[in-house]
Amino acid sequence: MRLNPRLAALPTYPTVILDQKRDALLAAGRPVYDFGTGDPTEPTPAFIRARVGPAIPDNCRYPTVLGGKDVREAFAGWAARRFGVVLDPATQVLPSSGSKEAVFHLPLLVIDPDASDRAVVFPDPGYSVYYRGAVLAGGEPVPQRLDGDFRQRPWDLPTELLRRTRLLWINSPHNPSGAVLSRDDLRRTWELCREHDILLASDECYADTWFDEPPPSILEVASEGVIAIFSLSKRSGMTGYRTGMIAGDARWMKKLRELRTNPGLAPQDFVNAAAATAWADDDHAEERRGLFRAKRDLLAGFLTGHGLQIVASEASFYLWVRAPSGYNGQRYAERLLDAGIMTNPGSAFAVTDAGDPYIRLALVPDLDTCRAACQVWSGVR
Ligand SMILES: Cc1ncc(COP(=O)(O)O)c(C=O)c1O
Repeated sequence: MRLNPRLAALPTYPTVILDQKRDALLAAGRPVYDFGTGDPTEPTPAFIRARVGPAIPDNCRYPTVLGGKDVREAFAGWAARRFGVVLDPATQVLPSSGSKEAVFHLPLLVIDPDASDRAVVFPDPGYSVYYRGAVLAGGEPVPQRLDGDFRQRPWDLPTELLRRTRLLWINSPHNPSGAVLSRDDLRRTWELCREHDILLASDECYADTWFDEPPPSILEVASEGVIAIFSLSKRSGMTGYRTGMIAGDARWMKKLRELRTNPGLAPQDFVNAAAATAWADDDHAEERRGLFRAKRDLLAGFLTGHGLQIVASEASFYLWVRAPSGYNGQRYAERLLDAGIMTNPGSAFAVTDAGDPYIRLALVPDLDTCRAACQVWSGVR
């Protein structure tokens, strides 16, 4: 078997490893408190689900890359309410089949695998698809190692690297740390990218999933030279629908629209109908934030009392926790798993050693299960 060597060199996808561990525990009849994969368990609101059936026509024909105008207008309406920005739904907005595929495919827009300037810079630790997409597109993946407050500062990168960079990823709120970039951070990053003619890709799939303060968007700074990516997965509990949105610079969006005619990535029209309903409503998103906030408060209180240090964790629906002394994240996650508590070792999100001291908790189990997990965890030393 002669496999694509770039594919062969990639490590196993983190959630695949997690699923295997969880299934092994369940098969052994053990209870599992699953804070592993970031897949919410709260139901998709009924009024969103109700839109799907009636939107399936007798003859369900190929969807278009652009999608219907309802979903693009609904998204532009949300962006105006949420960030105060004006987006042209005709030229600046495209639906995606979840934000993951949009993240994965974006390097294909700018990377020439034969060129020497083909670097793709991304936060590390970070969502592993920045790395994977860069590698499989033939780019040069360059992790920017985060530490301390876990805020990415691209202006610290060497000029020589910036000169050969075609695509720079930022992610705020950040997975796995929950760190948030300020408006000043975003402006400085944008200016740097303009100076070096770098396409700035801003993954904002947690834009509406925050605990205390709504995080700003890169689109509040500018759209020129920018592609921003959004998602209904966590905002509206729609992970299984695969529905995201891409928005930004009309010139780049035109090229992206052309690129996306090739692989057949357009979401189904009946998914777009449900997505339009979801983007048009903010109440359910606020309600979901309340649920995540209650879990954050419960777990943060417990973990701090248990002597653990929570780092960053300002937004998203994750807690980024430093393993206690005597452990690194991997060993502590294994220790917790022995007790039936499933977390993610920070190393699963990093290509450098930046995640090693940490574990990540996704606020997935319901409040009662979180309470039960704290009870069990209090016995883990
Ligand atoms: C930072 C980040 N970007 C993108 C995604 C993809 O989300 P989806 O494809 O469900 O929209 C995730 C999923 O967890 C994520 O954490």
